[in-house]
Amino acid sequence: MTIGIGYLFALTYLYLVDIEPHNAQGHGLRQDVIEKYYGKRGGTRLGAALNGSMGDNITPAEKEQIFLWIKGGAKEEDYGAIAPIFQETCAICHSPDSGLPLPPLTSFEEVAVLTTMDMGQSVKGLVRVSHVHLFGMSFIFFMTGSIFVLSEINVKWRSLLIAMPFIAIWLDIGSWWFTKLQPIFAYVVIFGGFLMGISLLLQTVISLGEMWIWKRKGKDT
Ligand code: HEC
Repeated sequence: MTIGIGYLFALTYLYLVDIEPHNAQGHGLRQDVIEKYYGKRGGTRLGAALNGSMGDNITPAEKEQIFLWIKGGAKEEDYGAIAPIFQETCAICHSPDSGLPLPPLTSFEEVAVLTTMDMGQSVKGLVRVSHVHLFGMSFIFFMTGSIFVLSEINVKWRSLLIAMPFIAIWLDIGSWWFTKLQPIFAYVVIFGGFLMGISLLLQTVISLGEMWIWKRKGKDT
């Protein structure tokens, strides 16, 4: 029961941290997974903003100048030429003085932060979540599996349901890494997570049901 409730909290956490903020921007689940692991390699935050509503604040020529700077690698030595644009136009809102919760654009360092490409989850981050989940999840399924192995359902189904979450962990965690390389693997992340949830649900519901609700087929000894 405790593990089942823990899993519900895990799903809620996933929803609140990874899914809801993206849904607010109209993204689907697949796109959320891709952005998390693969990143947004189409462009930079600064470029996206200038192509969007922020572009109205400057002339097309100034915009072009900033895009050329980003294309050239957003180098510090070339920043001087475009610094006045940020200083005169953007810093009215994008500075600590404005009191608005916006990224400041008053120095090279602050602007440079927005010109790096989002490459998704870092290798270091992936190693961290992978080892935590491989250890943690396998222990959880070892425990639920040890209870579920005593169930009375057909031994073939029982074996399958005990193995299934472990296969799901491999699919899920393995495809985090593959999604970092190829966005198409986001489907495997979703499928793996779904398989894991279904296995845990069946293991807990069948175990609890057989213990407390349904009539036993075998004799009580
Ligand atoms: C009138 C105030 C105002 C001015 C001037 C302004 N911005 Fe913004 N900026 C905002 C607001 C408000 C947001 C957040 C809402 C949005 O994204 O539209 C924002 C968002 C952004 C973002 C996205 C930040 C993120 O978290 O990814 C960038 C980048 C940006 N602005 C760059 C610029 C640049 C470059 C200029 C100058 C050409 C500029 N802004 C001028 C108000 C302003």
